Amino acid sequence: MPCGIRLAPRRPIEPRTHRRLQREWMCDEREHVIEGPLRPGESAVDWPGIFGGARPLHCEIGSGRGAFALDFAAREEVNLVAIEQRRSDAEDLRRRRDARGLKNLEVLQGDARLLLPRLFVPGSVAAFHLHCPDPWWKNRHHRRRLFADDFGLWLYRLLRVGGELDLRTDVRAYAAAMVETCEEVLGFENAAGPGAERSAQGLVLSSRERRYQATGQRVFRYLYRRPDRPPLTESAAGSRRRRGWTDVRRR
Ligand SMILES: C[S@@+](CC[C@H](N)C(=O)[O-])C[C@H]1O[C@@H](n2cnc3c(N)ncnc32)[C@H](O)[C@@H]1O
Repeated sequence: MPCGIRLAPRRPIEPRTHRRLQREWMCDEREHVIEGPLRPGESAVDWPGIFGGARPLHCEIGSGRGAFALDFAAREEVNLVAIEQRRSDAEDLRRRRDARGLKNLEVLQGDARLLLPRLFVPGSVAAFHLHCPDPWWKNRHHRRRLFADDFGLWLYRLLRVGGELDLRTDVRAYAAAMVETCEEVLGFENAAGPGAERSAQGLVLSSRERRYQATGQRVFRYLYRRPDRPPLTESAAGSRRRRGWTDVRRR
């Protein structure tokens, strides 16, 4: 691990369990796995110590080729943790970060669904950034979808009051599902008003958004804030029918 974060299991993982985790979470690295939930207020990671300062803690989920992470960390006075599942992208982003001398960006390779609850104390994160998550069209790939009610609930719990959720997608139906989850299931406040998209003006764009800028493809962008109250639905997982995604189309 680049920053000395040790996410070793608290007890050795049986090969069978490891295979199951790999299957369920697509997580390649044993050192990214901590078994068992953390107790409230218990943090696996001392972020101010690692970054050498207590700036607002931001997290980008699925940083991909890393254009957002690099430019956002360079522009803003924040500590940014980028989580990317694909090893080659994570390693490439680390190299480019080092070449630019950015001290406020850490890159972790692994499955965000597994890592997030282990990395951050509830109420500690200033912002999450999730840009153009894969829509996973096929039925057999549904379990790989990232943003759903239960994942949104985790983000809600980990954000501090007033903390921001920066969601962007290139898929209209995914955008509608995100809005529904955020506003109706969890009770996030939409900074632009219920159901409304935010302006792209002044935003640092992700790698994919930069490509779409050239091709003219539409991107749906939302900014949510976590209000000072518990989520509307405390246990979103399984609280309602899973969405039918077979009718989702890119445009
Ligand atoms: C379509 S790409 C978008 C990349 C980048 N956000 C952008 O807008 O250019 C989605 C990225 O999310 C990553 N990803 C998907 N599921 C993930 C997960 N569970 N944890 C971490 N990264 C994930 C993929 O590897 C991929 O790089």
